[in-house]
Order: sequence, then C-alpha cells, then structure tokens
Amino acid sequence: MDCLVTGGAGFIGSHLVDGLVARGDGVTVVDDISTGRIENLDASLEAGARLVELDIRARDNLLEVAQEAKPEIIFHLAAQIDVRKSVADAAFDASINVGGTANVLDAARATGARRVVFTSTGGAVYGEGEGQKLPLPEDAPIAPMAPYGQSKFAAEGYLGLYERLFGLSSVSLRLGNVYGPRQDPLGEAGVIAIFCGLLRAGESPTVFGDGAQTRDYIYVGDVVEALLAAAGSAISGPVNVGTGRETDVLELVAQLRALGGVNGFEPKLAPPRTGEVQRISIDPSRAARELGWQAKTSLDDGLDLTLASV
Ligand SMILES: NC(=O)c1ccc[n+]([C@@H]2O[C@H](COP(=O)([O-])OP(=O)(O)OC[C@H]3O[C@@H](n4cnc5c(N)ncnc54)[C@H](O)[C@@H]3O)[C@@H](O)[C@H]2O)c1
Repeated sequence: MDCLVTGGAGFIGSHLVDGLVARGDGVTVVDDISTGRIENLDASLEAGARLVELDIRARDNLLEVAQEAKPEIIFHLAAQIDVRKSVADAAFDASINVGGTANVLDAARATGARRVVFTSTGGAVYGEGEGQKLPLPEDAPIAPMAPYGQSKFAAEGYLGLYERLFGLSSVSLRLGNVYGPRQDPLGEAGVIAIFCGLLRAGESPTVFGDGAQTRDYIYVGDVVEALLAAAGSAISGPVNVGTGRETDVLELVAQLRALGGVNGFEPKLAPPRTGEVQRISIDPSRAARELGWQAKTSLDDGLDLTLASV
C-alpha cells in the first residue's frame, strides 16, 4: 500500500515509517526537518522510503507531492509540538497545526486518499484531570491549558468537517505522553528523554514542584501499532491511545534509578512551573473495543528500551 507520512522524520513518525517499510508499504515522507532528524530515517530511506523536505504550510507544493505519491493512506503527524512556543506565539502554532492540517486534508481530497489518520493529544486537549474521575474518556470536557492543545483540537474539528462535507474518512488518535528511543526533550513526554540523558551523564534530575504530577506514559512501539490499526479500520472521531494509568514524576525517577543501577540519581526539587497540568490519564477502552488495540509494553520494559538507546 502507498502511504504518505507527514512529520515522518520525527520521533513517532520515524518509528511509524520503519513499521510501514517493514510490512512492504511504499512510503513518502513530508517533513521540513524543523524538529525531526534525517538520521531517524536512515534505515527506511535505505530500504526505499522517500523523503521530501517541505513545510506543510506550502499548499501548492504539498498538493504536487501528494499527486505524485497517490497515497491510499495519509498519516498526518507533522506539527508544532512545543507547548511553551505555542504559548509565546499562538498564531504561529495554529498556522502549522490548523492551517497545515487543512492543507493535508485538501491534499487527501485532491488525490483520492482513502483515509487520513491524525495524531491528536490526550495529554493536552482535556486540560487538568485533577478533580475529575480519571482516566478520562473521549467525551470528557475539552479544556486545554495551552494553544497547542487548542490547535490540535481545532484540527480534529477539520477532520470531522471534511468527513461531513466531502466524505473523507479519518480518525484522530489522542495520544498519551509518548516516550521511547529517538525521543526529543521538547515533546510531551520530554521528561523521560531528559532524565535518561541525565542518568547516563551521572547528573541529578530536577523535579519541579512536589513531583506528584502524573501523566499517562505510552511506549512509542505501542503507538505505532495503534496508528496501523486505525489506518486499517473505518472508525472516525477521537480515540484515546494510552494506558489508562497515572505515573508520577518521583516514580519515574525511582524506576530509572533502579534500571540504571546507579546510586545518587536523587531528585533536586525546584519551584513548580506555572500552567502545568497536575494530573492526567486517558481511558483506552474505545481503542480496545473498536481497534482491538491495547498497550503491551510495561513502563519498566519501555524505560529499559529507552535508556538502552541513549
Ligand atoms: N510525543 C508525544 O508525547 C505526543 C503526544 C501527543 C501527540 N503527539 C503528536 O504526535 C505527532 C508527532 O510528534 P513527535 O513527538 O514525534 O514530535 P516530533 O517533533 O519529533 O515530530 C514532528 C515532526 O513534524 C515535522 N514538522 C514540524 N513542523 C512542520 C511543518 N510545518 N511542515 C512539515 N513538517 C513539520 C518536524 O520536523 C518533525 O519531524 C505530533 O502531531 C504531536 O502533536 C505527540
């Protein structure tokens, strides 16, 4: 099957491209290499995947690339992912995450793609989980705490619109905090990449606030399986892709200390950061029921694989 992957040189995208190439799909990657890395794709490019360096905001060029690739499926992962940057310049964030998504949907329509699979965020669209019954299902209130979560939610709306207006089949996977090899410290589960680096360097981790903040950490290999299952299904709308479990920062530090077999990996406490969500986890029941998907990698195994890659 021919696929187009936007953001395919990034952390999650490059693992997806590896998975598609491994099953024999033809893959065209569109990525402007702003946060992605060409090295992430070394093996897949060698095996026949194609990389086009392009900003998804360049509508005409994107349409041209899509016309040439004639993809059956478009996986849309390219995004402005830096929450702080989104707060500093909300319009810039929206230009990529909303405007760029509209261009990708137009490209899908123009080339007759069968389906679009979009990566939204379960860590950022629901906002604060404290005070709510966790894990949150897809119909929980949407209350993002940063322009990033708002722009990803707006993009989900465009997927729904294109389905109603043009019959374009699509699904939005609301990913938990994704971690694993090739992870960038900037992303939503950046804390794991940062801590793994510090552990290897023999330095101590800085923990903001009391370290009781929780996230729903999901291993990148499990996310790739969810993306493939979503492409092969016909379901639409939002689907949570997480474990349904909360892990706090101090637990992460303790697990990494045990896995790294080092003494002295003790947290240095720093003042809390404003605007940070205190608690979140997302209910993956819909993914289990309708995609036959569930997370397979335990946090312990996933952290071990991540640490080994640093
Ligand atoms: N990492 C997480 O925890 C997480 C959680 C929820 C959702 N997501 C979503 O998953 C997707 C992939 O995230 P990631 O963590 O792999 O981040 P990443 O930064 O590694 O990947 C994003 C890719 O998009 C590319 N890109 C950015 N702007 C672009 C543009 N204008 N045109 C073309 N390419 C552009 C980057 O170069 C990069 O390769 C994003 O849509 C993100 O919102 C990630």
